[in-house]
Amino acid sequence: MRMNNKELSKRLQEGTWQEIMPSLWEAMQAKVDQMIIQIGDKSPHVAPPDTGKYDDMRHDWWTAGFWPGILWIMYDLTGKPHYREKAWSWDERFEQKSVQDNNFHHDVGFQYLPTAVVKYKLTGDQAGRRRGLAAANFLAGRYNMAGKFLRAWNQDKTGWSIVDSSMNLSLLFWAAEEIKDPRFDMIARAHADTVVEHFIRPDGSVNHIVSFDPYTGEVIESLGGQGAGPDSSWSRGAAWALHGMANTYRYTQDKKYLHAAQRVAHYFLAMLPEDSVPHWDFRAAESLVDEPRDTSAGSCAASGLLELADALPPVQGRPYREAAERIMLGLTRHYGVWDKPDYEAILTCGTGNKPADSNIDVSLIYGDYYYVETLAKLLGWKNRIF
Ligand code: GLY
Repeated sequence: MRMNNKELSKRLQEGTWQEIMPSLWEAMQAKVDQMIIQIGDKSPHVAPPDTGKYDDMRHDWWTAGFWPGILWIMYDLTGKPHYREKAWSWDERFEQKSVQDNNFHHDVGFQYLPTAVVKYKLTGDQAGRRRGLAAANFLAGRYNMAGKFLRAWNQDKTGWSIVDSSMNLSLLFWAAEEIKDPRFDMIARAHADTVVEHFIRPDGSVNHIVSFDPYTGEVIESLGGQGAGPDSSWSRGAAWALHGMANTYRYTQDKKYLHAAQRVAHYFLAMLPEDSVPHWDFRAAESLVDEPRDTSAGSCAASGLLELADALPPVQGRPYREAAERIMLGLTRHYGVWDKPDYEAILTCGTGNKPADSNIDVSLIYGDYYYVETLAKLLGWKNRIF
């Protein structure tokens, strides 16, 4: 018999990670089933804490793949067709948008990997394959040969590149394998080399934006972007680098990416507060006590730590797995919403863009996605999306 919400909340507060995981998995299925009813056809991005209701964001927004991504993971883990049915149409929606006025950019990996590509992997759907390859072509077309980077955003940001793109490289690696064409692999490796050289600092902290001269490729400056400043340390940027470089190692087996991911991981873990859930920027202020957390940085980093654990022999991988479990325990206990049936999101206390005063202490669909992805990996799920 299913536990009621109060019993479940109590159980989640008391046990070790190993003890709570079965109850959490049970709760997650109930939660996602409820979210399906609540979210309907919306493209969720942000839910404010007072209502817990997800918004309905435009379909070419960078976050539009995460809700269907949750559904595809649930389908893969359970085999239940209602998850597949709810996820099915999303890559078609993107394709329709791609032939209209749109703002697709460097983040097509975040959109097409958890929709078109995973759909093709799990069902063999040829339209999903076609759309995934079209997105990879689009991303490859954003490569700047002088600076060896994938350019960020659109409009006038011609020479800008951002650390977030580390996570989009899996789309290029997938395409290279899928059609046996090394061009995609070469572009992904070249961009990853730029991340290692210009974004990941010697101490393992990470820049958000690097501005290059788009004609000569020379570095002009580093910019703070969504972090507190050019020398600060935006925690979600670190999570993107950690997870992205670990993925790049999985595809290439080149140790320089493994070591880059480890460097970021060691820094990230050293900066965590007592509950293992990061503040939005590790260098936001001398004291971080009053600074908001970013649960999305925590869940994304936890998933990346599990990639590191899998990449290494057990004796070396164990500390990364245990660190991922500590982050998951902190997220589950202190930020998971298990006893408010009307609340549409899984985690509270994400921070979208603090310098722009935008989306602070809210639920974020990508925080929810990486939480589900990490739980799935800890349950033994093998079909990687990123
Ligand atoms: N990719 C944008 C962000 O992390 O907010």
